[in-house]
Amino acid sequence: MKIAHISDLHADTTLSFQNRFRNLLQSIRDHHVEHLIITGDLTDKATHDEYDTVIRILNEYDFTSGKDLSVIPGNHDLFPSVYQTFTFRLSTLREEFRSDPIRITKELYRVMRAYRKFTPDEYRHALSEFLTRFQQTFDTAIAIGTSETEGFPYIKHLHDDYAAVCIESNYVSPHINTVLPYALLKYFITKDMYSVTDSPICSNGWVDTDLLKRALAHPEVKDKKLIVLLHHYVYTSEQERRYMNPSFARTMSLVNREALIDELSQSNAKLLLHGHWHVTEEYTVCDGNLRALNGAGVFFKNDGKWNLLTLGSDGVKREEITLF
Ligand SMILES: [Fe+2]
Ligand SMILES: [Fe+2]
Repeated sequence: MKIAHISDLHADTTLSFQNRFRNLLQSIRDHHVEHLIITGDLTDKATHDEYDTVIRILNEYDFTSGKDLSVIPGNHDLFPSVYQTFTFRLSTLREEFRSDPIRITKELYRVMRAYRKFTPDEYRHALSEFLTRFQQTFDTAIAIGTSETEGFPYIKHLHDDYAAVCIESNYVSPHINTVLPYALLKYFITKDMYSVTDSPICSNGWVDTDLLKRALAHPEVKDKKLIVLLHHYVYTSEQERRYMNPSFARTMSLVNREALIDELSQSNAKLLLHGHWHVTEEYTVCDGNLRALNGAGVFFKNDGKWNLLTLGSDGVKREEITLF
């Protein structure tokens, strides 16, 4: 069985995005892929128009049902009130602040107000919206979670030997609503905007390991090789340092990475698919025993690659397909 793994479309409604997405799906179809996996950040600001654009183009290429498509949300899909307020680029925040401190201070204050209004209810509403939008792809999925987690994690059968465990890794409450004023203060004093455990921009991750345990031990996945889907990366801090400074890393990483790795090392997980940091690559975790694939580079500069996976009784073969 051939699977395509991509992530982080960050869809907008421009023609440029639509053309890039069509080119990608055409390339995936040209490789006779039977199932497409997208590991979060499908939209950039979770607007109705962004969802409409993504779903319309997926439909054009017949990625519509649970048999053809598996999706999980990323932080950009679940915190619209935060991402809709951004008018600056986080990556150039310091430079922008230096050149126009008054504008950036006003902008940060506006983001802070939106952030402080954020509630767990809003997160649940956005998660429910995501599930409604992709309802048909969850038809065949088995919900392990509760109504509190909108059913996450889910189990999906992919192939005779393989099942997917689909995790929602974006919920970092109760800290989520409390940090930004502190973080801003810290930024102006120490130029380090981020706290140790919390993210002012809702981009850290956390996995409910009790629910994960239940999914991994479920009778439906007994004797199956497991492919685990989550949005956040599982880089070690050394791996993280290849890409970002430790301060920024505190806003991006999976808060309980070690607990997740611990659970997976005792399970039949063979492959972990994720996004969040915008590169496409393969690496290993669990002392080399678990392969991890990031598929988030497909629409980003100097990358443009997607993961083509062939599932067989002897394992998973991976090829990197370059789009441009
Ligand atoms: Fe992303
Ligand atoms: Fe993300």
